[in-house]
Amino acid sequence: MKSKRNSSERDARVGQLYEQLAEIEQRLIPTGLHVFGRAAELKEKADLLRMVASFDRPEQGARALPRLVADALGVESYDALLHETWASETRQLIDGVVAEAVRWFCEDGVETAVDWLNSQTGVDSEESRPTFLLLAKVAEQLDANNEIDSLVRALRGEYIRPGPGADIVQNPFVLPTGRNTHAVNPYSVPSQMAFARARHTADALLRRYFDEHGSYPRALALVLWGLDNIKTEGEGVAQALWLLGVRPVRDALNRATEIEVIPLEELGRPRIDVVMTVSGIFRDLFTPTMALLDKAVRRVAKLDEPLDMNYVRRHVSEKIHAGGLEFDDAVTRVFSNAPGNYGTNVNFIVMQSAWESDATLGDLFVTRKCFAYTRDSKGRSIEGREARELMDDALSRVEATYQNIDSFEVGITDVDHYFEYLGGISKAVETRAKARPSIYLSDSLSPQTKIRSLEETVRLETRAKTLNPKWYEGMLKHGFRGVAEIENHVANTFGWSATADAVDPWIYTEICQTFLLDPMMLNRLRELNPHSLQSLVRRLLEAHDRGYWNPNEDVLERLRDMNEHLANRVERVV
Ligand code: BEZ
Ligand code: MG
Repeated sequence: MKSKRNSSERDARVGQLYEQLAEIEQRLIPTGLHVFGRAAELKEKADLLRMVASFDRPEQGARALPRLVADALGVESYDALLHETWASETRQLIDGVVAEAVRWFCEDGVETAVDWLNSQTGVDSEESRPTFLLLAKVAEQLDANNEIDSLVRALRGEYIRPGPGADIVQNPFVLPTGRNTHAVNPYSVPSQMAFARARHTADALLRRYFDEHGSYPRALALVLWGLDNIKTEGEGVAQALWLLGVRPVRDALNRATEIEVIPLEELGRPRIDVVMTVSGIFRDLFTPTMALLDKAVRRVAKLDEPLDMNYVRRHVSEKIHAGGLEFDDAVTRVFSNAPGNYGTNVNFIVMQSAWESDATLGDLFVTRKCFAYTRDSKGRSIEGREARELMDDALSRVEATYQNIDSFEVGITDVDHYFEYLGGISKAVETRAKARPSIYLSDSLSPQTKIRSLEETVRLETRAKTLNPKWYEGMLKHGFRGVAEIENHVANTFGWSATADAVDPWIYTEICQTFLLDPMMLNRLRELNPHSLQSLVRRLLEAHDRGYWNPNEDVLERLRDMNEHLANRVERVV
């Protein structure tokens, strides 16, 4: 009996490991930097086209290739299959066929791919052709690189036609590159599609929290960015609305300016209190949307509902009765920078190692972001009134923080902005709520939405990029700049230790092993870019100094030696 249980436990563990490996393998990663004016390489194109082909595009009359293959193979529900594990044989079969069909397409064009798919799986040629024709259009536009021409024309003061801003996979019509991005009409946000997707993602977020804690979070802090909401037509905005339990309603001019309350019976859960910190870019682009979010919170706060089903009302009435606040103050939930100001500066002080206690990072976040965008009691709009105490108070109830990731191109260790925002707000919550919040990111990129904890996301990004030879060798092809990119990833990873304590020590150990303790690699990095190499060494020493990692004395000694030698060398070069 015992051994039976052991073996089934082992099988389950092996299954999980398989799942994790498949997740890393499936992750789309850049295998080099974009070179201005140069089109993507064929290999890169195949991966991208496979992702483009994995979504239905009703507006193009094109269906997702995996869905077509699933239908042809008699799989009853492709959507149900997406929720199965990667280890599912049917799923592997479908993914393999799709990859092969895209390979035929890249090699020999639309008709060969259509015929191959038909002969192998019986997918009707008339059904798959529109999808391959779409891929042909995308492939052609990937090759048509207008960047240098557009730059020269812009320098001459000529007009450059703008295009939509989005992720290529989400909307391939962002191509060709070399155009300006046009914004979206803020009154169109969130679109119906964005709302439908957001509902899915926000439900998955709440389910995950519930599974881990046995209750819903009473308050969530959300980070909203401008470009992301352009790309997704307001998915982040829609998530906030759905968490509150409301939907946007369009007025006679088709503008999303009104709110409709979703009844609790339909919602089937409490309304979550949401604290929204929006970037300066969001504030500039989406002024009416901020008013919509503020309106939503006010409406929800005034609903005559049980306090255990409406956390906004509960918190607002607590503040009015016990805290002596006015309704208009107690209901403030939309915060951003002061007018004309951008960013949190948390990234700068982390990069410059210019902080002593962690709490400083959260305090800085609040100092920069505590400007309320709301209304006064007479309904007049307030755009950027300093409201530090209100923000401190709103954050003190937060149990989870969250940001939506909407692009295949930029992940949480690629740039310092994710840790400055999501890390910054999480640290601010930690000191105000006296408990570290659960921190989540969503991956609404693949057809099946995925919610991950920050720790899981850091591990995934590290394995898929920083420690992946495909990724770092791709970077090293770019020489000096490539080493700088590797160093940036390490520094951004460190940012997640500083703001959120979310980096396992093994990650620093493996980074050290891969880039510094391997003599050949060390030599390559030193030859290509001793400056960035020295920063990397210093960052690892700092990770040790700050207690994020505890390597043995021998390793530390080697790092100190490297730092010293590099300092001499860099000085000589300067
Ligand atoms: C934004 O689009 O709002 C944004 C972009 C980069 C960094 C931070 C915010
Ligand atoms: Mg940098």
